[in-house]
Amino acid sequence: MTRPAPASLLTIFGATGDLAQRMLLPSLYSLQAENLLPPGLRILGSARSDLDREAFANLVADAINERIPAVERDDTALRGLLERLDYAAASVDDAASMQALAARVSDLRNGDVLYHLSTAPRFYVPACHALGAHGAADARTRVMLEKPIGKDLASAAAINDGVAEVFDEDRVYRVDHYLGKEGVQNLIALRFGNALFEPLWNARHIEQVQITAGETVGVEGRGDYYDDSGAMRDMLQNHLLQLLCLVAMEPPARFEPTAVRNEKIKVLRSLRAIGHGQVATESVAGQYTAGAIDGVAVPGYVQELGRDSGTETFVALRAHVDNWRWSGVPFYLRTGKRLPSRCTEIYIQFRKVPYSIFGGHAAADMRSNGLLIRLQPEERIELDLMAKTPGLDRSGLRLSQVALDLDFHEEFANQRRRISYERLYLDAIEGNGTLFVRRDETETAWHWVDAILDGWRTAGVAPKPYPAGTWGPGAAVSLIERHGHGWRE
Ligand code: BG6
Repeated sequence: MTRPAPASLLTIFGATGDLAQRMLLPSLYSLQAENLLPPGLRILGSARSDLDREAFANLVADAINERIPAVERDDTALRGLLERLDYAAASVDDAASMQALAARVSDLRNGDVLYHLSTAPRFYVPACHALGAHGAADARTRVMLEKPIGKDLASAAAINDGVAEVFDEDRVYRVDHYLGKEGVQNLIALRFGNALFEPLWNARHIEQVQITAGETVGVEGRGDYYDDSGAMRDMLQNHLLQLLCLVAMEPPARFEPTAVRNEKIKVLRSLRAIGHGQVATESVAGQYTAGAIDGVAVPGYVQELGRDSGTETFVALRAHVDNWRWSGVPFYLRTGKRLPSRCTEIYIQFRKVPYSIFGGHAAADMRSNGLLIRLQPEERIELDLMAKTPGLDRSGLRLSQVALDLDFHEEFANQRRRISYERLYLDAIEGNGTLFVRRDETETAWHWVDAILDGWRTAGVAPKPYPAGTWGPGAAVSLIERHGHGWRE
């Protein structure tokens, strides 16, 4: 498929919001500082607040001064970004304001337009409809949507249907910001840029896979959204399943949108259903109670929320990808808030050697090889190998597990850490959808997750308490130990 032309105008809905301040505006600044934005690109901010251009520019400058470290700030770059800005107050339920916005878009554009809906998902369909109704959604426009796309399959399909009435699927860019992370690119590079791993990347050689996304934070003032969502919808349906897809997919023919997405969807469709008959053994939901993180006392979820709640802040699952490559290999997934450390990692444990030539202590020392791909907080790849413990072996040879450890921040010390939106914006501006999620991926993921959530409801599964600062309820440990495995910690 041919790529569309680079956008001439980026219109951000929700331009004064939290995501914009923390991620979007600093990312645009960094792209500007590296001269990566198309020279004529204009940026139109939109939100309900009645600001003029100057007030919006001040808000952008404040966000950048606050988020970008002083040593990386550069006045020329900031001026360059501010010169690109315009602002139009608009509200989707006010037709006149949307009409005025469409008129501004038409004045400012000089070719393709990228809309970014960084708003609550309930505004996606009305915003797209309004853009369509006012002639601002022609074939040379595309739209970026933030997660969550719905809260179950039915609501996701309703959003996707509504958006599809205005934007064809190849003009819809669904964001999963994990796909913009450098570590995720690394996973793809590791798998498909090395001949070493691919022959081993299957059930014959891999014993188990673990994907962990742990956070130390609580719900950070987002209680209303989070309580309606929970760890399953907030993290597992999207970020963890996307990581699972990248680990498990077949090599795509090319690194381009359709080829990559076609492989990911096959993985999602191969996920074995976990329904009400399996939830008790294959899943664990948890909710944090008061505890301590790094020695600092923190309140429990219900205290933070200010009301009682049955929402899970932790989930662990044993998933299976039922296909030739992965038959019988468990994929253990877990994610939660208020865990002891912030870390996102993928751990691949290989099968043991088929036969040990070592007797005595060395046989007992033997461990499986493991490959750890750490995405956060630091990017690292670690390969666990067995080596001889130094010594003269008077009482028999001993083995130790040692790690080949590649720290990307040391290896590429002169490279700055990037916010994932830098890549995602650049790709969407340039019309490259490879790192965005296609409709069928979102909906297939919801279908799988819905069955588990329904299972929890019908089987009466309630989240088990875990003290903040621990790795979830004890049941998450039993879930994996029952199968002779253990979480990598
Ligand atoms: C978001 C979730 O999608 O991802 C948040 O809504 C979560 O609850 C965040 O904190 C985690 O992202 P990151 O990049 O900090 O791992």
